[in-house]
Amino acid sequence: MQEKLKAIVNDALEKMKAADQLDTLNDIKVAYLGKKGELTEILKSMKEVSPEDRPKVGQLVNEARTVLEEKLEDAKKGFLNKIKEEQIKKETIDVTLPAKRPHMGHRHPNNIALDEVERIFVGMGYEVVEGPEVEYDYYNFEALNIPANHPAKDEQDTFYVNSNILLRTQTSPVQVRVMEEGKLPIRMIAPGRVFRSDEVDATHSPCFNQIEGLVIDKNITFSDLKGTLAEFAKQLFGEGTKVKFRPHHFPFTEPSAEVDVTCFKCGGDGCRFCKGTGWIEILGCGMVHPNVLKMSGIDPEEYTGFAFGVGLERITLLKYEIDDMRLLYENDIRFLKQF
Ligand code: DAH
Repeated sequence: MQEKLKAIVNDALEKMKAADQLDTLNDIKVAYLGKKGELTEILKSMKEVSPEDRPKVGQLVNEARTVLEEKLEDAKKGFLNKIKEEQIKKETIDVTLPAKRPHMGHRHPNNIALDEVERIFVGMGYEVVEGPEVEYDYYNFEALNIPANHPAKDEQDTFYVNSNILLRTQTSPVQVRVMEEGKLPIRMIAPGRVFRSDEVDATHSPCFNQIEGLVIDKNITFSDLKGTLAEFAKQLFGEGTKVKFRPHHFPFTEPSAEVDVTCFKCGGDGCRFCKGTGWIEILGCGMVHPNVLKMSGIDPEEYTGFAFGVGLERITLLKYEIDDMRLLYENDIRFLKQF
């Protein structure tokens, strides 16, 4: 019997040594120690052993069992350690590798151009202010000398929240809000989004940006306006840039003008960029209408002022020679990174 037990244990140990995975160990356990395992079978056949030998044989079987259990446990631990080590090896981080660069965005060309415009006007002593995008009809039209039935309202159709509230069509209402505060003199620019019910194409968008300008003080004249915008154009487009004032009409200024700058591409000779004219239109402006001053509580006999409105996208497209406004709104990082 002792021989037989020894043979069984040795046999089991051999198999354990040869085992190459955790499952095999389990199979061995079942084959020797399970309900129908070889050792268990021996225990079952104890009735055939003589009563005086039984305790001895029982002890031998139990010893064999303990040996096998211990060896199986050791082997199992060995496997688990190996698996863990392999995993650690796989997950090792090489700290000498270069780090992944964080994905940085890029400033939008509109913002680059706006920063430039702000820098120029702040340099001339202007304050930068903001007004609401959702605006009262009163500020967007009425107070700018555009009464209910004025045809100018047609050109600036917009999105109405109700009959009194709308998405502003221009940054000009910020003029009124600043004048109403009553602090004089005023020297401000007001950049921001405006909205119109326009279809999207290469030069139009239902949402775009304007920069409003307003100066109110004693003795402000049209020559102040001309000098200011001439200086602005030079700083923005280059020292050699000239400006041209063409008579125009805006309800909130009198007189009013549109301003062209000499084409910075051809210097005024005429090219594809300026459609052969040598000039490029950049903004609308004029002397603030006495009605507008009065409505905002400023005495037009004592104070005068000028105002102007620039389309930011127009400046951006010109400055960076982009020929389709839609590119500015697609936010394709490959496009944006070029500026
Ligand atoms: N608000 C005008 C527009 O959207 C632009 C404009 C023209 C603004 C003349 C002004 C100005 O302040 O004086 O078409």
